[in-house]
Amino acid sequence: MAAIGLPDVVAFTGLPDQVTICEVGPRDGLQNESTIVPVEVKIEFIERLVDAGHRVVEATSFVHPKWIPQLADAEQLLAKLDRRDGVRYPVLVPNLKGLERALDAGVEEISIFGSATEAFAQRNLNRSVAESIEMFAPVVATAREKGLRVRAYLSMCFGDPWEGRVPIGQVVAVAHRLMALGCTELSLGDTIGVATPGQVQALLADLRTGQDLAQVSVHFHDTYGQALANTLAALQSGVSIVDASAGGLGGCPYAESATGNLATEDLIWQLTGLGINTGVDLDKLVATSLWMARQLGRPSPSRVVQALAGSGSSGAG
Ligand code: HMG
Ligand code: MG
Repeated sequence: MAAIGLPDVVAFTGLPDQVTICEVGPRDGLQNESTIVPVEVKIEFIERLVDAGHRVVEATSFVHPKWIPQLADAEQLLAKLDRRDGVRYPVLVPNLKGLERALDAGVEEISIFGSATEAFAQRNLNRSVAESIEMFAPVVATAREKGLRVRAYLSMCFGDPWEGRVPIGQVVAVAHRLMALGCTELSLGDTIGVATPGQVQALLADLRTGQDLAQVSVHFHDTYGQALANTLAALQSGVSIVDASAGGLGGCPYAESATGNLATEDLIWQLTGLGINTGVDLDKLVATSLWMARQLGRPSPSRVVQALAGSGSSGAG
């Protein structure tokens, strides 16, 4: 089949001029793999993502290695990675022990990760929501004193496998508490990918009272195929930061039914058609995801990766 090239740009109202992508493949993607990916492959993955134009790449996690053995090589990875000027490499940090490890590795940005629901807080952090916020408080204070940026993830913003539908008021209350710790960015997680666009707009409408949406990112898993529609709804509501994962890798081992994140390629295809430049080269990214799929031994779930691999326009191989 002949390549059709990139989509024509056709305007669409109410969207930001620019979107920052936070590429989470090396962390959210690889934390969920059943096999442990060698550190050299992780490094090549991150370097290829940066070569493709990414300027925010979530590199790894400083969590307990028994909880996430897939990322137990965080120190090794950061020691060997050639971190480039102008690129942010946030890492997940749950507690002071994790912060100490991250600071020793010379990180400049961390992400704490809270939950809107009690059930997931217990399963993911071994603590209640209130106890996890107490755990994060000294982490954020110390990190900010040292000049680090701090993202705050908030999981289970729309639905929870144990508690069902999550009330907006509950999500907004925890979001404000996390940001009150001094975080610089908030990422709203649809961990199990159940949200639909009306729910996204309703949450953002309530959140915007007291929270500048310029600091807010959205983090959609694509379990029910809604991630791209939900992202467009968020962009129309004033969000301009989007988390996505190359090739659609991803999931959370502690959240039943969490599958891959919104695929970065699918996002870029849409943003290109909307005339929004992200600075990321789609062909290079597709080539990276095809390479990663070969490392993992299974095809990428991203529709755009599959389409461009078939069309031959990506130069991928
Ligand atoms: P815990 O067992 O309650 O830990 O786990 P603790 O504080 O009781 O400490 C127990 C031992 O662990 C101590 O060692 C600590 O030093 C050690 P001992 O004194 O017994 O020898 N320890 C550590 N070691 C290394 N690094 C650390 C660390 N912390 C304690 N950071 C803990 C609590 C938070 C550590 C654990 O629950 C944990 O690591 N959880 C992480 C789970 C995780 O990474 N989940 C996936 C990421 S979240 C996600 O994917 C969702 C997201 O994508 C957004 C979305 O989709 O919604 C972000
Ligand atoms: Mg996630």
